[in-house]
Order: sequence, then C-alpha cells, then structure tokens
Amino acid sequence: MMKDNWAWPYPRHVAHRGGGSLAPENTLAAMRVGYAHGYRMVECDVKLSGDGTLVLMHDATVDRTTNGSGRVAGMTWGELARLDAGHAGRETLPQFVGEPVPTLEAVARYCLANGMAINIEIKPCPGREAETGAAVAIEALRHWRDAAVPPLISSFSEAALEKARERASRLPRALLQDQPSADWQERLARLDCVALDANYRGLTSGIVQSAHQAGYRVACYTPNDPAIVRELVGWGVDCIITDAIDLIVPNS
Ligand code: G3P
Ligand code: MG
Repeated sequence: MMKDNWAWPYPRHVAHRGGGSLAPENTLAAMRVGYAHGYRMVECDVKLSGDGTLVLMHDATVDRTTNGSGRVAGMTWGELARLDAGHAGRETLPQFVGEPVPTLEAVARYCLANGMAINIEIKPCPGREAETGAAVAIEALRHWRDAAVPPLISSFSEAALEKARERASRLPRALLQDQPSADWQERLARLDCVALDANYRGLTSGIVQSAHQAGYRVACYTPNDPAIVRELVGWGVDCIITDAIDLIVPNS
C-alpha cells in the first residue's frame, strides 16, 4: 500500500467498543447508541469462535461481558449466540438485557446501512494470532467490498497484522502499541501500516509530528477527558477513540 497516496477517509472521533461506556461493549446496541450521539465511526474487538466464526468480544473468555462463562475459543458460534451480552452483571441496564453477541457479518450490515465507518481491532485468542488476522482480512474484504470507506484494521499482534496484509493488502492497517516503541516507524514500515494507534498516555506532540512527517496517521485510545482530547486534537491526532461519547462531541 502506498501510504503517501492514501486518502484518510475516517472521521476524527471514534466510539470505543461501539458505544463507549454508555452501552454493553461490542454489541449492535452499542453502535446504535454511538450513532445516536453523532458518532460515525466505531471501534470493535473481533476474534474467532472455536468453530471459526468471527464475533465481537474483547476478552479471551465470555465471563466479564456476558451471562455465560468459558473460553471463546472453546465455544461454538451456536453456543455464543445464546449468550446475553446485555446482562453482564456489572452495570446492567434493563433496556439492553437480551442483547446478543454479534458476528462481524452482522456488524458489517449495520455499518454499511448506516454510513458508519469502522475500526476492526483484531483481538486474537492466545495462539490464534495468524489465523484470526487472516480470517478478519478475508471477511472484511468480502463484507466491505463495495464500501466507499474501507474498514481500518488494527491490532497489537504483529503476527495478525502480517497475515491481514498477506490476505488483504489493500485494507488499511494500524499498529496498536500501548507505548510507542523506539522502533515504531520501522515496525509500521515492515507491516505496511498507514497509522500508529497508541495509548494516548504514551503519545507526545513530537511523536505525532514525526509520524505525520513520515506520511503516517496517528490514532489514539482511550482519552475520556474533553480537555485532554482538545490537546490531542491540537497536536493533530487523526483519530480519537473514546468511551466518553456523551462528553466528547464529534465535530470533524
Ligand atoms: O483499539 C484501541 C483499543 O480498543 C485498544 O485497547 O483493550 O480497549 O481493546 P482495548
Ligand atoms: Mg479494542
């Protein structure tokens, strides 16, 4: 991919896990809440079920975010589909009870129908990095084949990104790093990424400047304080992935 020629088509503000902290994470209900708050791009975490279906789920187990328990990699899609992702126990809101775990395919349908751009974070179960990277790339290419705005594929896993590149080189990729490594530029170049996607706490205006000078975009997660977001926008950060979708008004 020619990063210098890549027109960055993404809005500045991105709703983390669909609807930030206002809805059960990684669900279609969350995306509807994100949309209702003016967000036109969502971030979500995607992994493989035991029998090869791509589903939205952050953790390696379903325990924290659903009414079930067990490893995602140890469950079939049929088992995952019966879980309640709107009844996670922690801060259950009655309007979300019964909300299912969505597949990436269902999410693609929602996003395409509503003009919602997406950042698909490849979040592999341990040991399934390459397999998950390949599956996400193949499905993303298929579901978004006619889309004006392609999904932005990101991951902390370089093995997953490498496979995604192999299977769908034209889909833009971002390397996630909790703290930008000393050699982040070399890593982005090696993986042919268009963007660095860092924890906002590890970002500096200098890093943003160097990235832009080198032709890369910069995304960051998960600033939730409007004053901090203003500062990051002032530095020129291209994508702000936030949980505070009620406090951070998307405007560009
Ligand atoms: O994709 C950015 C952000 O979601 C990475 O961290 O743990 O929230 O998936 P996490
Ligand atoms: Mg994520």
